[in-house]
Amino acid sequence: MKITIVGAGYVGLVTAGCLAELGNQVMCVDNDAKKISLLNAAQLPIYEPGLQELMSRNRAAGRIQFTTGMADGVEHGEVIFIAVGTPSQEDGSADLQYVLAVARQIGRNIKSFKVVVNKSTVPVGTAYRVQAAIATELSKRGISEPLFEVISNPEFLKEGAAIEDFMHPDRIVIGVDQGNNYAATHQLIEQLYSSFNRHHARTIWMDVRSAELTKYAANAMLATRISFMNEIANLSDLLGADIDCVRRGIGADKRIGHDFLYAGTGYGGSCFPKDTRALIQTALDCGSQLKVVSAVEQVNDLQKKIMVDRILDYFGNDLTGLKFGVWGLAFKPNTDDMREAPSLVIIQALLLLGAQVCAFDPLAGNEALDALSCELIDSPEALANFELADCASEAIEDADALLLVTEWKTFHHPDFALIKSLLKRPLILDGRNLYDPKMLEEMGIAYQGFGRRNSLALSFSNTKNTPQDMLETT
Ligand SMILES: NC(=O)c1ccc[n+]([C@@H]2O[C@H](COP(=O)([O-])OP(=O)(O)OC[C@H]3O[C@@H](n4cnc5c(N)ncnc54)[C@H](O)[C@@H]3O)[C@@H](O)[C@H]2O)c1
Repeated sequence: MKITIVGAGYVGLVTAGCLAELGNQVMCVDNDAKKISLLNAAQLPIYEPGLQELMSRNRAAGRIQFTTGMADGVEHGEVIFIAVGTPSQEDGSADLQYVLAVARQIGRNIKSFKVVVNKSTVPVGTAYRVQAAIATELSKRGISEPLFEVISNPEFLKEGAAIEDFMHPDRIVIGVDQGNNYAATHQLIEQLYSSFNRHHARTIWMDVRSAELTKYAANAMLATRISFMNEIANLSDLLGADIDCVRRGIGADKRIGHDFLYAGTGYGGSCFPKDTRALIQTALDCGSQLKVVSAVEQVNDLQKKIMVDRILDYFGNDLTGLKFGVWGLAFKPNTDDMREAPSLVIIQALLLLGAQVCAFDPLAGNEALDALSCELIDSPEALANFELADCASEAIEDADALLLVTEWKTFHHPDFALIKSLLKRPLILDGRNLYDPKMLEEMGIAYQGFGRRNSLALSFSNTKNTPQDMLETT
């Protein structure tokens, strides 16, 4: 099948590569000429495990091409995917300018019947707006035939495991309304996704509005699990319980399951924060309120700041002259995506309080530096105290504490004796509950996780304790 993907980002490139892998002829269009030149030079503008190999293989087989030419893209595909960004606007609602710009371009160039598939995460009703935008452009060209159908096909992949998720989806949600083109559209899309239905049917057909809402509901549900566990972890700290035991205890219940139950520095990324905000705003636009989702967002905002609060409890409010070594910057492992990463909130706060920060991330260092430079544009003196390390040990040399923020595999089993010898004070703040508190305490390393029984008590506020003092208070 001939397929066009508009948007060569995390979703567009993975969709393009995977559909080419299944034998389709894919054209990927992006209006960022720099991205397209990189792609045409066999490089990727993003990191996603396995994507480079997937692209190389399919480029070599002549099944994938990249262009900035929207006219060529519209001409090429029987099915045209829209996979452009839908960032948050000031009020939290989704900014549809990129989606609607693509719709207009499709309308200007369409010559034969196309199914336009909206893969971007968009508020309920957007497919109708895309439909109207295309129809308006067609009517300007004097065309009144129903040359297209707009459907919703939200994407559920996770960055870091995107190819696996795309190739082995739990489900493929397709929203199409009954209309003139229903039969042709149904047939084309069933054919497109037939490889995924061979073992059992994974396509779930529904109306457009329900499909659009399904995506937001899924992300809000997952975000809810994380914020819920973070609240229980904070309570565990107060009660002397261990969140890891609680997690295993509740996750074993089949009705609950083990996924998305990890406490830590809160969720970030390109989806959960903006999608929960957009859903809250959608409800407000309908004169309603989503109380649970609003609470989920508030808990997450607070959670991102807890690590800094703990540092202030320990070191006092003036962090001048102190240095913190940060391990992990990306919003999660196996990606270079820094969008709404908790590390940005933590590092920015530390820098503004006068601290020095030296950070190491296996992939996202430069992206983090770009993001921090934007956030701290008005505080160049604070930004000057941030540096990137070339390796994990360099980041913590002579630091007053190690802050583990992203749980990259390379941080799972570090040499703790080396860490102790490199740090000025043997203190680890573990934002992902990765390490064993008891073992660290036995090694004389003070440790603070989220909701771990052996965490340091927080009753030592406003004192310049040594880690040894802290160990003795617990
Ligand atoms: N990233 C994820 O994990 C993920 C998962 C599921 C769904 N989504 C949703 O998918 C959508 C895309 O997300 P992403 O992370 O891939 O975004 P992205 O920012 O990585 O990529 C978007 C791409 O669209 C391009 N673009 C913008 N306007 C264009 C235009 N008029 N013509 C051609 N190209 C244009 C941009 O240059 C960019 O390369 C969003 O709605 C997002 O919420 C993302």
